[in-house]
Amino acid sequence: KKVVLAYSGGLDTSVILQWLRDHYQCEVVTFTADLGQGEELEPARAKAKDLGVGEIYIDDLREEFVRDFVFPMFRANAVYEGEYLLGTSIARPLIAKRQIEIARETGADAVCHGATGKGNDQVRFELGYYGLEPGIHVIAPWREWDLNSRERLLAYAEDRGIPIEGKKEGGGSPYSMDANLLHISYEGGVLEDTWTAAEESMWRWSVAPEAAPDTPTEIDIEFRGGDPVAIDGEALLPHEMLSRLNRLGNDNGIGRIDIVENRYVGMKSRGCYETPGGTILLRAHRAIESITLDRESAHLKDEVMPRYAELIYNGYWWSPERDALQALIDRTQARVNGVVRLKLYKGNVIVVGRRSASDSLFDDSIATFEDDAGAYDQKDAEGFIKLNALRLRVAARRGE
Ligand code: ARG
Ligand code: SIN
Repeated sequence: KKVVLAYSGGLDTSVILQWLRDHYQCEVVTFTADLGQGEELEPARAKAKDLGVGEIYIDDLREEFVRDFVFPMFRANAVYEGEYLLGTSIARPLIAKRQIEIARETGADAVCHGATGKGNDQVRFELGYYGLEPGIHVIAPWREWDLNSRERLLAYAEDRGIPIEGKKEGGGSPYSMDANLLHISYEGGVLEDTWTAAEESMWRWSVAPEAAPDTPTEIDIEFRGGDPVAIDGEALLPHEMLSRLNRLGNDNGIGRIDIVENRYVGMKSRGCYETPGGTILLRAHRAIESITLDRESAHLKDEVMPRYAELIYNGYWWSPERDALQALIDRTQARVNGVVRLKLYKGNVIVVGRRSASDSLFDDSIATFEDDAGAYDQKDAEGFIKLNALRLRVAARRGE
């Protein structure tokens, strides 16, 4: 018996590592992903070595994460419940995929994650595992063991000789956090009271809007096929693009939200998120679509967007319906080419210009308030309105 554990190097997953051996007498392979969470990964390797792990995987997945998960999602302008840009949700399917690949490579018959039994992450991981490897055995320690308090976990660690270093995930932060190139999240602690404001020191990925510079930062983002490819004329790889936007967003106080969301498992949960680059990207993408997308294609996308966002939130990335919706969305993006000019200013992303040399549908000769030289015949509007008003008039005569 062999199990691939999604391993962060923190206390929780280190305890899980040892518990797997104690409880299942199995060999443990660790897998740690670099998704741009901004943490050193070598300590995770060292810790796994210390704990006697023979097969240690540490993979840089940043490029794949942004190119094949974040950007496809942003083509849809996906937002959950009007606010959440899905930073954690979109990372889980990639971790699940890589974990299954490693299980195949190492001949493991099981996979294990450190998500609790109360959240969304367990669902996302496991729907991914089963969707990619139907016969896989899944181990979710938080649903199985009785180490349900901090004290018990620490006692177990002490008992089994796992170094504690006074360090839980997030370097002693009171919050449950998750980070990757798209966002950082904070849950728990004082946030469990929906009326308590987060203290300023919680936020790590952006300056406070009121502390941001008094002069706006202006940038041009170029899009090709619906994806951002260059900033101010400088071509950037997907993960470089998101890093750059994160820096710009951070400096200008962009991308903080504080919400209560509906988890898939049924409870409401309060979370704070910083998505600096993603917040800029969403606004810019909508702006370039505004001149390059046909009206009905754009509206159709907007209709399916909540469904698409919900499916990602709920963990159905690896599903036939995501596939089908993605095909629809991607099909609309071929002509989404051009440049958007933005001002970043004290928490705001302000669109000041957009243009597309090859693909604009905006026709100033039609739209102009000046003489259009016959491009648009205003008389046509009369019949257009009358026929559209017909049923309203009939109903009004009946007395509605
Ligand atoms: N509530 C957010 C979501 O469901 C963030 C979850 C954060 N996960 C974590 N393990 N801290 O996507
Ligand atoms: C967890 O419960 O492990 C984190 C929160 C979530 O998955 O929603």
